Amino acid sequence: MARPRHIAVVTAGGDCPGMNAALRAVVRAAAHRHDIRVTGFLDGFAGLLSDRFRELGFDDVSGIVAQGGTMLGASNRHDPFRVPVDRPGEGTYEDRSDVVLRTLARHGIEGLLVIGGDGSLTIARRLESKGVAVVGIPKTIDNDVGGTDVTLGFDSALTVATEAVDRLHTTAASHHRVMVLEVMGRNAGWIALEAGLAGGGDVILIPEIPFRYEGVAAGILARARRGRRFSIVVVAEGVTCPGRGTVVRQIVGDSPDPVRLGGVGVVLAHALEGLVPFEVRYVVLGHVQRGGSPTPFDRMLATRFGTAAVAALVDGTPASMVALRGDRIERVSLADALSRPKRVDPQGEHMAAARGIGTIFGDETRPEA
Ligand code: F6P
Repeated sequence: MARPRHIAVVTAGGDCPGMNAALRAVVRAAAHRHDIRVTGFLDGFAGLLSDRFRELGFDDVSGIVAQGGTMLGASNRHDPFRVPVDRPGEGTYEDRSDVVLRTLARHGIEGLLVIGGDGSLTIARRLESKGVAVVGIPKTIDNDVGGTDVTLGFDSALTVATEAVDRLHTTAASHHRVMVLEVMGRNAGWIALEAGLAGGGDVILIPEIPFRYEGVAAGILARARRGRRFSIVVVAEGVTCPGRGTVVRQIVGDSPDPVRLGGVGVVLAHALEGLVPFEVRYVVLGHVQRGGSPTPFDRMLATRFGTAAVAALVDGTPASMVALRGDRIERVSLADALSRPKRVDPQGEHMAAARGIGTIFGDETRPEA
């Protein structure tokens, strides 16, 4: 592919801290190093379907490195390959990806950067198979995109969730309560595991490790016998509740990932109430985890990802995704990155550390803690 002179960028899927910092890096690297023009399409792939955009120059991205969200807007319900057709009640969808191709051609755009999670990067890959030069920047608080050690936004969400665990500790201890904190993460337990560990949570429940209510209660009772009259339970929204399955909040039909999880905190709290001699309260952290300013780590990662993604387009290695591997930013193929979502390895080092310090996962009948 010839060196592009004009590229597009979209921020697709759910927003997260660090998206603006990535946009800033893309625009500055494109203009400063490569003399490339950048057009930002609005609200993820919706902007590419409806030709809504704004030109992005140096001045437009000034002062946004510390701002959460995305100046372009985001959407996690616009898939150009599955656009709902307006026939009420029929639930029919149409492939309108050709509209995206026409939009890009009309603007003379020669490369597309997609800042997105696995749903958006899957769309990017399908666009690539239709001839669009695409490079992905992995972002999601869930940290579940394969091929990269970490996704943009995870560290910021982890920081918020860890602070929540810290804050719950003092009130739980004062009132001798069990406090259940429900965190996001979809089907991956990264936020729950790492915030739970970093905040000193007593029980951590993640989708990768099936639990039993009795196992959780046994751990809390063992703590009580050692004089700990409170417990902090960090639960990932995607866990499977015994006899019930995952707790679904909503189905969003036109989304690439229609199942919205949420509500496990209250289910768990009610189940535990009958099993432990403490009051049980629950808190749902929700979108607070996606809001606010990115951490310094995410600002740095965004800057490295953004510049590397522009370089990948310039070098003509589309169909790739930039990734953090150890200390280095590398290019991995979208196919490899999307072949398997990144989940917590029950036999991995994180889990070994957690088990090593006696964290309760609710999967043992006689926990050590
Ligand atoms: O993928 C990011 C994420 O925040 C998940 O952790 C969560 O399940 C989902 O998005 C929530 O989506 P929405 O903003 O549509 O409620």
